[in-house]
Amino acid sequence: MKIVVIQGPNLNMLGIREQHVYGPMKLEQIHAQMKDVATQHGVEIEFFQSNLEGEIVDKVQECYGEAQGIIINPAAYTHTSIAIRDAISAVSIPTIEVHISNIHRREEFRKTNMIAPVCASSIVGFGPFGYHLAMMGMLQIMSEVKAAQEAQQAAGAN
Ligand code: DQA
Repeated sequence: MKIVVIQGPNLNMLGIREQHVYGPMKLEQIHAQMKDVATQHGVEIEFFQSNLEGEIVDKVQECYGEAQGIIINPAAYTHTSIAIRDAISAVSIPTIEVHISNIHRREEFRKTNMIAPVCASSIVGFGPFGYHLAMMGMLQIMSEVKAAQEAQQAAGAN
């Protein structure tokens, strides 16, 4: 079982950028915590960050047949990218969207969200803890999918 974590533009600047909005934690620290949770649950995890829309589309596509879950913070592309939305929709892999800040309480342009409608869930406004919540949610989704597949196989065998 594999989860791919995709981080969009400027998230490599966490710990430096607008600490009053995003806090002091660096991306590497967030990823280290997620890795610990994945290891505890015997799940493989891969991390990817890009400032380029097309590279994020490519990464989502690469998940097809490879990953059982995607956790994505598309950052500013959340509000603009039909291409990332279509990629998530195309691969049909359970996807959880994370936003460190509460995008609903910020500028008007952040209320437009291209990504949420193709995600299983959105987690916003919990700070970096949102990534931990996303891990918990994804582990739950993955175990439900696995149980459903096993039930289907058992039914087929009878
Ligand atoms: C963000 C919110 C976006 O509006 C913003 O462009 C980001 C980060 C968040 O995690 O709160 O870069 O996705």
